Amino acid sequence: MDEMTQRTVYVNGDYVAERDATVSIFDRGFLLADGVYEVSSVLGGKLIDFPGHMGRLNRSAAALELALPWDEEALLAIHRELIRRNALDEGMVYLQLTRGSAGDRDFHYPDADTQPTLVLFTQAKSLVDARSGREGIRVATQPDWRWARRDIKTVQLLYPAMAKMAAAAAGADDAWLVEDGMVTEGASNNAWMLTRDGALVTRELSPAILPGITRAVVMELAEALSLRIEERAFSVEEAREARECFVTSASSFVTPVIAIDDVPIGDGRPGEVARRLRAAYIEESRRRAL
Ligand code: PDD
Repeated sequence: MDEMTQRTVYVNGDYVAERDATVSIFDRGFLLADGVYEVSSVLGGKLIDFPGHMGRLNRSAAALELALPWDEEALLAIHRELIRRNALDEGMVYLQLTRGSAGDRDFHYPDADTQPTLVLFTQAKSLVDARSGREGIRVATQPDWRWARRDIKTVQLLYPAMAKMAAAAAGADDAWLVEDGMVTEGASNNAWMLTRDGALVTRELSPAILPGITRAVVMELAEALSLRIEERAFSVEEAREARECFVTSASSFVTPVIAIDDVPIGDGRPGEVARRLRAAYIEESRRRAL
């Protein structure tokens, strides 16, 4: 990025130009992926689903005995200041918290007085008018070879990156991860399908998947639209036979899936229920934004 487009980022209490931001080479986030993260979306300069994202950040940190010495109010102030300094209208704020640096490499957690590292930065992106939201995406299935605690939002994203590269090599836009024949979730989103008899299905919460914040809101909206919801695992075969499929996440909202491994879903075009839920999610998010 040139001088004009340099972002201001946040590192441990300071707002600095991105080229001046530094973290120790001994930081455990860098050496051991010992850290957690959140991605919150921004519409009209305001944060979407912020309390949900910060609630999950707390749960992720607690599951790893990671100190989080900032409360929700302090984190909201940092997010807002970063949005203001970068004049962000639409896009995301990325937050990463790591166990910090004890000045050397050691598997054991350092003393409790070791300062955690907190980093935030903004990403400008068109979310509402994204082409994927209008036209849908094609996914390729990949084996789910991640660790067994996918309910914790850790920064160890090498396998999701590999799965997305394999999906791209197969001509798809994203990967759906599969374990024992059943879809767990997308590589960076939750997976849904609408059966031919009209049931909306998404996998139940467990350590096998990330409890999506968007998933929870979309579930409320689906109930308000009187859709029948089934929280259960579904197979790749069932999804291929579905009337509709879609994914949910902070950065994609509700995005139709139009093909799985080159098999068209429904008539191969974005489905009506996905379209309605996407519109409802955007409307509700704008209303609740902070
Ligand atoms: N990903 N499942 C996985 C594995 C994810 O990485 C994500 C989010 C989700 C959806 O969660 P939410 O609705 O809270 O965004 C489900 C973020 C956006 C990312 O890594 O960029």
